[in-house]
Amino acid sequence: MSASPDGIIPRTPPRPDHVDYAGEGLDEGEVPGVPFALISSWVDTARARQVERGDVPEPLSFAVATVDADGRPDVRTVLMRFLDPVGPGFVTSLESAKSRQLEATPFVAATLTWPAMFRAIRFRGRAERIDPEQLDTYFAGRPRGSQLSAWVSHQSQPVEGREPLEHAWAGVEARFEGQDVPRPADWGGWRIAVDELEAWAGRSDRLHDRFRWTRVGEGGLDVAGAWRVQRLQP
Ligand SMILES: Cc1cc2nc3c(=O)[nH]c(=O)nc-3n(C[C@H](O)[C@H](O)[C@H](O)COP(=O)(O)O)c2cc1C
Repeated sequence: MSASPDGIIPRTPPRPDHVDYAGEGLDEGEVPGVPFALISSWVDTARARQVERGDVPEPLSFAVATVDADGRPDVRTVLMRFLDPVGPGFVTSLESAKSRQLEATPFVAATLTWPAMFRAIRFRGRAERIDPEQLDTYFAGRPRGSQLSAWVSHQSQPVEGREPLEHAWAGVEARFEGQDVPRPADWGGWRIAVDELEAWAGRSDRLHDRFRWTRVGEGGLDVAGAWRVQRLQP
């Protein structure tokens, strides 16, 4: 990218004008009082497009924001590995920076973004640890290489080069040779117990559709009466 004196990222030459977000949008008639079916169907559509058209390469990647001990936001991309009416969930090291932050301050926000579909879903809520049985089942289905890496990585800690990691990986490969790799005790996951959710659908001229569900009662994302839905200005 060539430098610009005013710091504005120049427009891409073949498309001198901005990309029009010509999405399908979202009308009141399609917006349910409870959001679970809608978000499930958007996730399914994104996954289907990955297979059929390849223009949504990691449909389950989502940005998860936490706050540190000083109240400073932190954000990173993970893969959404669970989705149920409580909310989305992901797996990670329980020693990682994000896990430590969530232990101290459970408030969390996350977003799934699918630019090719002009769609995004935003979640806010509280993080809860995923229960061990569910994690064991998930871990058992992971590729063996990923299982071994879970034993090796002290996620978010500094390391003096790549070699110590590869050496440790070879060590755990030998240790578990001929047997199933168990889930390390420090490998876990978090579920976002959602209390606010937004579905964003891009429309032409940046006049987008946005709907926000706010919790007004007890129950999951599929419980009638637990949510108030409002259209937001773009
Ligand atoms: C596409 C993509 C998917 C990722 N998936 C995960 C994941 O599922 N779990 C995870 O712990 N880190 C994942 N990462 C790495 C995280 O972005 C991050 O580097 C790591 O979790 C450490 O973050 P922390 O130091 O803030 O805890 C992924 C990164 C990318 C780019």
